[in-house]
Amino acid sequence: MKISINQAPQYAGEEVTIGCWLLQKRGSGKIQFLQLRDGTGFMQGIVVKASDETLFEKAKGLNQETSMYVTGLIKADDRSSFGYEMEISNIEIIHAAEGYPITPKEHGPEFLLDYRHLWLRSRKQHAVMNIRNQIIKSTYDFFFDNGYKKIDPPILTSSAPEGTTELFHTKYFEEDAFLSQSGQLYAEAAAMAHGKVFTFGPTFRAEKSKTRRHLIEFWMIEPEMAFYNHEDSLQVQEQYVEYLVQNVITSCRLDLEALGRNTSVLERIKAPFPRITYTEAIELLKEKGFDDIEWGEDFGAPHETEIATHFDQPVFIVNYPKEIKSFYMEENPDDPRTVLCADLIAPEGYGEVIGGSERIHDFHKLKQKIIDSGLDIDAYEWYLDLRRYGSVPHSGFGLGLERTVAWLSGVQHVRETAPFPRLLNRLYP
Ligand code: 4AD
Ligand code: MG
Repeated sequence: MKISINQAPQYAGEEVTIGCWLLQKRGSGKIQFLQLRDGTGFMQGIVVKASDETLFEKAKGLNQETSMYVTGLIKADDRSSFGYEMEISNIEIIHAAEGYPITPKEHGPEFLLDYRHLWLRSRKQHAVMNIRNQIIKSTYDFFFDNGYKKIDPPILTSSAPEGTTELFHTKYFEEDAFLSQSGQLYAEAAAMAHGKVFTFGPTFRAEKSKTRRHLIEFWMIEPEMAFYNHEDSLQVQEQYVEYLVQNVITSCRLDLEALGRNTSVLERIKAPFPRITYTEAIELLKEKGFDDIEWGEDFGAPHETEIATHFDQPVFIVNYPKEIKSFYMEENPDDPRTVLCADLIAPEGYGEVIGGSERIHDFHKLKQKIIDSGLDIDAYEWYLDLRRYGSVPHSGFGLGLERTVAWLSGVQHVRETAPFPRLLNRLYP
């Protein structure tokens, strides 16, 4: 019977065959412990010299990452968190790997990134991708279950919703084009056709930043809801994030354990999330001795981290000054210096995971904002049409997939959360 490692619990007491790789090996002169992996899980296999000397010698000679079929008896084993192991009775080598570059010793991040195509096989990287995968699945479940439709925006675009400084230029035959920074403007058009929509796709920012939160290419989930004001949108955001966190805790137990993630800090993540205005946040920072920031300036990572430490939940910073936010955001009627927007700041220094806002739905206001922002009005005629023909209040937000994966996995840097991260100075592999 050929099975996969994750099916082992159903085959306790039976002899089975598993196609797998050798992750690691340790042992003595009498017994060999083989750490096996097959993509679905990790399991220990045992070979005892006294039972089969030839097999024992074969096992002892196996190199890391050798691929093989192992056959043996599945046994319950309380000492491993997986709960099962295999008493190996046969090993059929498929390909004997030699000199695998990633050894159990410590390697530097640049070395590991050069070997990202192999690094993905390691226990921790496998766990991070499982968590990423769970967040992807939960995202689809959450939005489909709540009546949203997925709309795919184009990747090649002529618009710059998030400012012109971080655009990736490319040629589109004779025209100039950009890789999409955000699918939002297209999601707005789709919301006027379908009501509640979300996008989920790659976005690109030519940001010359080398921080643990920035990727050049990242995936964003951008819901957009017709007839929703900003408050309605905040409620969707906190319910969605709670759903993601709770699903990762219940579905990725072994992965969180492999990463050494402290899950008690995640278990208490429950909507509603606290809110603080930008202006209050500035006052808080001043009280805490941050003299480098003035009202009107954007927060940097240390500011966000300081604000986050005052809450044990993610926190919404609402109503930022107009000047530091995008052109499409609706003015705050209670304080016209600011807009109806929020950034959701994750705990533990992971920073902004969501940016969202209510959109300007008045034609004249929006047109003026496009002109004032120095954008080419011709490229936004279609976007203005949404305000010409049955304009309605609407709101939406964008959640960064990789930052969310980093936060829930507890890894320090977003470079470990994308299968093949695109970083400043890194396009290989
Ligand atoms: O705050 P941002 O730029 O917002 C937008 O793009 C809006 N159009 C969203 C909307 O309202 N539909 O980006 C949203 C999120 C951030 O909160 C962050 O999580 C992530 O995208 N993000 C990045 N993640 C990794 N690397 C980068 N360089 C990122 N830039 C933004
Ligand atoms: Mg933002």
